[in-house]
Amino acid sequence: MEKLLLRHKELKIDNWFEELESSIKQERVFFDNPKGNAYDFNEALKNLPQIKPSMIDLDNRKIVIGKESDINDRDLGKMKETLHELCPWRKGPFDFFGIDIDTEWQSWMKWDRIKNHLGDIKDKRILDIGSSNGYYMFRLAAEDPLIALGVEPQHSFYFQYLALQKYLQLENVFCLPIRFDTLPVMDEYFDLIFCMGILYHRKSPVEMLQEIHKLMRRGGNLIVENLVLESQKGLCLFPESRYAKMRNVFFIPDIKCMQSWLERAGFSNIKCIDVSKTTIEEQRQTDWIQTESLINFFDPEDHTKTIEGYPAPVRAIFTASA
Ligand SMILES: C[S@@+](CC[C@H](N)C(=O)[O-])C[C@H]1O[C@@H](n2cnc3c(N)ncnc32)[C@H](O)[C@@H]1O
Repeated sequence: MEKLLLRHKELKIDNWFEELESSIKQERVFFDNPKGNAYDFNEALKNLPQIKPSMIDLDNRKIVIGKESDINDRDLGKMKETLHELCPWRKGPFDFFGIDIDTEWQSWMKWDRIKNHLGDIKDKRILDIGSSNGYYMFRLAAEDPLIALGVEPQHSFYFQYLALQKYLQLENVFCLPIRFDTLPVMDEYFDLIFCMGILYHRKSPVEMLQEIHKLMRRGGNLIVENLVLESQKGLCLFPESRYAKMRNVFFIPDIKCMQSWLERAGFSNIKCIDVSKTTIEEQRQTDWIQTESLINFFDPEDHTKTIEGYPAPVRAIFTASA
């Protein structure tokens, strides 16, 4: 993570150095004395063999690192074991030296929905809130941003990111194992922010959008994806207890309500660029997750409803300017 600081010193874009330094210090403490599953993941990571991939491919549905011929059988066995220890692999897919990580989500489907709305990425400063293992940042890296910074508090995903970066070594991609709300003050810093799959987990979605707005330079581009209701009435669902078995889902707006949230948070030029039902082609159980997946969240008799009787998951993507 010191590399992130160094890069900013080199680039002299340093108004948030001190704050960032304190986040990095926290991260150092995190690694000096990892606790709970962070300890286990940190130990697992030490077993990844040291190999230089002969190729990487960031520009396809599956992110590919190295070829099978780059690795001997003993190291391949060690790598498979370690990658399994970092389960659940939700976002992807990836190929590590011929090991096919068939992730729960076919994340290229979401990427295909947003990729033509990102504008020119070259030399841009990008933030991905809830970056998981970095799949979208790695896809972005193919287009040479100045910096893509992810924040991802969940340890398994953060350590997957570290495993990927061990081989990708992308110098303009970084991740901090922190929550968005503990990000240092970086007002008007980012040209492009991704906030995908987060808002429905927030008790104050409008406040979060306002915080995001502050971080963006004027005219910067926001890509926000959320669970939605398909209506245009300006209404919002507040699940009584769980939604699709998730306890931490609070507000599911309809399309018009989502537009009002964005407006009230200060955004302009708001466009809904995609509305898609989540399908079992996009989210499904594989050998790389141990938990249930979408099929188990539907009403078994009627896949237009969740098991609780709410409308089944539909996700919409909006672009907006700060
Ligand atoms: C539903 S996933 C979406 C992942 C990815 N953004 C995507 O759209 O495919 C939500 C992610 O946000 C992370 N997350 C949850 N609360 C967060 C917070 N306060 N700040 C940053 N990330 C958070 C979770 O750990 C998880 O990886």
